[in-house]
Amino acid sequence: MDKTPETVKPDMTRVAEIIDSYREQSWPLIPLLQEIQDEIGYIPPEAINPIARAFALFPSEVQGVITFYEQLYTTPRGKRVVRVCRGTACHVRGGKTILKLVKQHLGLEEGQTSPDLEYTLETVACIGVCALAPNIVIGKDTHGNMNPKKVAQLFEDKKGSG
Ligand code: FES
Repeated sequence: MDKTPETVKPDMTRVAEIIDSYREQSWPLIPLLQEIQDEIGYIPPEAINPIARAFALFPSEVQGVITFYEQLYTTPRGKRVVRVCRGTACHVRGGKTILKLVKQHLGLEEGQTSPDLEYTLETVACIGVCALAPNIVIGKDTHGNMNPKKVAQLFEDKKGSG
């Protein structure tokens, strides 16, 4: 079966190893969740019960922490997370068009992950480099002064596939 966000099977052996490595630590929950997400790409819902058992918590407490922290995810995400800024400075300098073009290139709407798990598309309020508006971020790299040509160059490999 092809890998899609719905069919991906997390490496629960690795999850168990990560949980074990935090057993002796005080206040382990957030760094533990972060490490699971860094390695697996997200926090598999199947990990919540083992985490709760390991640290004598209720599963709802673990879930509550995940829900509270916006940067923690319980669904698979793409290898490359694309964030288009929709803050005011970016908006007035064409951010809306940039978002539309990125959607077209990736074949994704906001919040969606591509079936091949390559890309996730998100929007953000402001990424803090307004002088370079309009901006997009791919993974850890910020791309400023975006225009349609630059968008096309960034997503050249997606031509005809999205
Ligand atoms: S509004 Fe886009 S970087 Fe600030």
